[in-house]
Amino acid sequence: MDAIMVRWVDMARSAAVLDTGFGALDLRKARKQSLTGPVTFEELGYEAFPIKFLVPDFMVPCNLYIPVMAKGEKLPTFVKVLERGQSYSEAWRKALKEQRVHELYVEAHEVAELDGYFHEILRAYAEDEATPIAQKALVLHHYGEFIARRLFGEVNDGTFVKKAGQWADAVVRYLRSNRLRAGHIYRRFMKNYEMFTHSVQVSMLAMAFCWHMNWRHEDVVRLGSAGLYHDIGKVWVDSRILLKPDSLTREEFAHIRRHPESAYAHLASMGWMNADQLATVRQHHEAMDGTGYPLGLKGSEIHPFARVLHICDCFDALTTHRPYKKAVTPFKALRIMQSEMRLSFDRHLLYKFIQYLGS
Ligand SMILES: [Fe+2]
Ligand SMILES: [Fe+2]
Repeated sequence: MDAIMVRWVDMARSAAVLDTGFGALDLRKARKQSLTGPVTFEELGYEAFPIKFLVPDFMVPCNLYIPVMAKGEKLPTFVKVLERGQSYSEAWRKALKEQRVHELYVEAHEVAELDGYFHEILRAYAEDEATPIAQKALVLHHYGEFIARRLFGEVNDGTFVKKAGQWADAVVRYLRSNRLRAGHIYRRFMKNYEMFTHSVQVSMLAMAFCWHMNWRHEDVVRLGSAGLYHDIGKVWVDSRILLKPDSLTREEFAHIRRHPESAYAHLASMGWMNADQLATVRQHHEAMDGTGYPLGLKGSEIHPFARVLHICDCFDALTTHRPYKKAVTPFKALRIMQSEMRLSFDRHLLYKFIQYLGS
């Protein structure tokens, strides 16, 4: 059973001040403690909610809690720190940041409804010219990450395909009405690799790039929602291999290389996606010179969606810190892609991609 992390505070000492507000619960003095036992947060009925998803000046979408561990207890108590409908102010954002609180907890049954929160913010932003595009891009990014976290966690739940499509549609509508530039998207790269954020980055970049090339709205949406799923096959790869800091053995490498095929098999059997989307997921590691995997397809045998995704996937991989390698700058990433990796990509698309990033 996985250990779960909780913040430890002396409940007896803190109980008197908990009611008076979050500020009184001095989390700087709290220390993290690993709780091992036959429980997970999920079993306790709660799920993590990253603080970064909350946008100042909008109402808190649900009650948010912090798990507090009393001395001698085996299970945490969930203390409400933000209430549904309360305004989330900039002061709150700063206070939580100062306290180094990166995530709160939400009652699990409320999580499914949270995409309404992102919709509401995006609807408000659509009319609001004063909000910087970078902030709008950030909310689109967080909305995508919220869905990616859910769909990676519940791979058998088809409702997330629809939600991924709604997210992709929201991105394309923004691409249509705002000057969302490549920099707004890839500026967020060069961070530590996380499966969810990687999926969002690759997908958003691919959509923005294809929109820039005047692809049809519905094709960009299809590519975008498949992009969110492109690495779903890694759910079936042992995480010790995925996070291994040393070089992989031949067997481990072969194990990872199965992820496009296992994703394809799963998604095809579920009947959630059309042929273009299935090809995108299955072929995103195919290379133009036939050296890719899983099928070793060549040139025009590779679906155009997959060729775009392959470029964006490599760009993100190069510009993100991984356990086994440091990130390079976007400029250096493009140099590598143009030199040692060039035979892997559709030459025409790579040329356009470089132009797009510089636009
Ligand atoms: Fe992949
Ligand atoms: Fe990927």
